[in-house]
Amino acid sequence: MAASSGQCGSSARPARMASTTRPAIALVLALLVALAAAASAAPSADVDGLLDPDVGIDGDQYDDDYETFGLDIVGGETADIKTVPYQVSLEVNKAHSCGGSVLSTTWVLTAAHCTYGKDARSLQVRAGTDKLQRGGSVVPVARAVVHPKYVHGRQDWDVSVLQLGAALSYGSTIKAVHLPASGAEPSANTAVLASGWGLTTAQKGRNGPPNLPVQLRKVTVRVVQRPSCVVAYQSVLTERMICAAAPGKDTCTYDSGGPLVDSARGIQVGVVSWGQGCADPKYPGVYVHLGNKDVRSFIKSYAGV
Ligand code: ARG
Repeated sequence: MAASSGQCGSSARPARMASTTRPAIALVLALLVALAAAASAAPSADVDGLLDPDVGIDGDQYDDDYETFGLDIVGGETADIKTVPYQVSLEVNKAHSCGGSVLSTTWVLTAAHCTYGKDARSLQVRAGTDKLQRGGSVVPVARAVVHPKYVHGRQDWDVSVLQLGAALSYGSTIKAVHLPASGAEPSANTAVLASGWGLTTAQKGRNGPPNLPVQLRKVTVRVVQRPSCVVAYQSVLTERMICAAAPGKDTCTYDSGGPLVDSARGIQVGVVSWGQGCADPKYPGVYVHLGNKDVRSFIKSYAGV
């Protein structure tokens, strides 16, 4: 119920019924309203990305977000892997779980919440394909390193690097992405491209597998100036985060870990991390700030780039 911020049934019911049944119905209505209010008053602790990310398309654990609407790489279009050759899928127990990006032939960048607590043996990276769980090169993950300051259940420091058990071979469908210099701040309004296999249709209810698109998707959003994003998220927003948004466009669940790239410069400036709902005009998508010096030095110390 990530999108459950506020309005819960503006019960504008016509009140013209037999006066005898009215009190009883009013009581039932009041009870329902109270219940609904209690449900929606749950603290926004289930902001997307805060939830247990341990989900896979054949898993039995689902993110509460599926219960709500507006879940897609919202407002995007299909993508050919050759246009985003740095994009990979991180599979957990052979099922797509998150996105990632190629840093080198042996290192992949993703979100900490995608790998936290997972045995490397359950992880594999699929590169060089724009089809979900199909084609490309599949390589095992030898080691997953989560940022030491990441705390599970919090959004801060949501970065991890994966050392691959076999080297990727570069080609037109597999290429390393470039990272920003340490301390680089993306300017507000910069056009940035996000991609992934996140949900494209709303999933009602929590039972059944999420309906992920087979074909990779991409969407262009713009870097949001920090003060506006602070208005939306207050102190939850830290220096390790940047925000990006565009009307009707956003990343969403299962896009996490994937790249946000300054398309003009060809530099990955963010990692899909979290957001309140998806494409909610009040709440931008939040990404790991790769130019942040602490984030940048963590990546460099392991991946060497
Ligand atoms: N946490 C999500 C995931 O695991 C990504 C959320 C991005 N949300 C957003 N509104 N941009 O896939």
